[in-house]
Amino acid sequence: MASLTFNSVWKRYDQVEAVKDLNLDIADGEFLCLLGPSGCGKSSSLRMIAGLEFISAGDILLGGERINDLEPRNRDIAMVFESYALYPQKSVYENMANPLRLRKMSKDEIDRRVREAAGMLEIERLLDRRPSQLSGGQKQRVAIGRVLVREPKAFLFDEPIAHLDAKLRARMRGELKHIQKRLGTTTVYVTHDQLEGMSMADRIAIMREGVLQQVGTPQEVFNQPSNVWVATFVGDPPMNILQGELQGGDGGLTVVAPEFRIDVPTMQAGSLSESKLADRKILVGVRPEALRISSIQDAAHPITGRVYAVQPLGDVEVIDVRVGGDRVLVRAELGTVANEDVDATVYLGYHAQKLHFFDPTTGVAIRSAATRQTAVSQPTI
Ligand SMILES: Nc1ncnc2c1ncn2[C@@H]1O[C@H](COP(=O)(O)OP(=O)(O)OP(=O)(O)O)[C@@H](O)[C@H]1O
Ligand SMILES: [Mg+2]
Repeated sequence: MASLTFNSVWKRYDQVEAVKDLNLDIADGEFLCLLGPSGCGKSSSLRMIAGLEFISAGDILLGGERINDLEPRNRDIAMVFESYALYPQKSVYENMANPLRLRKMSKDEIDRRVREAAGMLEIERLLDRRPSQLSGGQKQRVAIGRVLVREPKAFLFDEPIAHLDAKLRARMRGELKHIQKRLGTTTVYVTHDQLEGMSMADRIAIMREGVLQQVGTPQEVFNQPSNVWVATFVGDPPMNILQGELQGGDGGLTVVAPEFRIDVPTMQAGSLSESKLADRKILVGVRPEALRISSIQDAAHPITGRVYAVQPLGDVEVIDVRVGGDRVLVRAELGTVANEDVDATVYLGYHAQKLHFFDPTTGVAIRSAATRQTAVSQPTI
């Protein structure tokens, strides 16, 4: 096992800058998720660790040792791809044993490792089958088994469960997390699915267009997003963003728009009045679960909107409300709003401690000194 470090790493393909100045420390034994939309540079970053892509600039360290120039097979790192890459003519047992045979390991040791990995993945009964006799989920387990047997210093996963059905994905999330914790092997897991990142990782590194946006625990990136882009990428349904103008002074600050007046909590007022906002324009972020809805206008519900649609989700519902030209989603108990209420005027209240503020020019979060301190995240393992 070992730590992994990116020191000012760049990846360029001709005209494309896929990874731009990536600096990231992954602790020994940590489960780090590299999260971001398609094309943001996740696979490029992972493939540079594995040695499958040339590093354009910067260094990658494994256990403190620079590995830029090591051949992939000498890196002691194992990678699982979305495509299973199994040998169709070989049994499950042979597919798992093959990487060890290439390393000239004894027959007994190979057998011990294959059976142990098969036990962990609950595929002991499938060892004699061929890949064509397996379901997609079973094939994926075998592909994971092939890397487990190697007992490498680090595991790399590139969207390993993206094509499985939703139920199997949910199960595999739990299993992969369990196995990683049991083995304690440093793991980098690439996904574009924020739910996978949030539910599996010790920390999440969020990338956009080749640039690392934020690194933190799932709670940190959810509760203290560093910018408006991260705020709306993490969480489902996403955070609502409202634009207004900052008014007031020492007596108290309020964000004002024709449809709402949102009082700035005292704790945030200092940093907001110090920030250099162009024309005092500001973005207010509030998650759907931090909003409440009422048919009665009062001081506790200072945002005016109109019901657009209701989406029931089992025990809760997501109410789509139009506030001015903006779409605002509210998460509420099932039955809070009925289909007949579409087009009705409603009033929204908010949880004052759960408001986020962003500079509309830069997108950067404006935070109080107290939250700024806790937002700096170091590896904890
Ligand atoms: N071999 C290549 N030649 C040229 N450009 C490439 C190559 N591989 C990737 N790119 C470009 O580099 C950028 C990052 O690609 P990368 O595969 O790292 O993204 P990703 O985050 O893994 O996306 P996805 O979620 O779609 O897999 C993209 O703009 C992509 O088009
Ligand atoms: Mg990719």
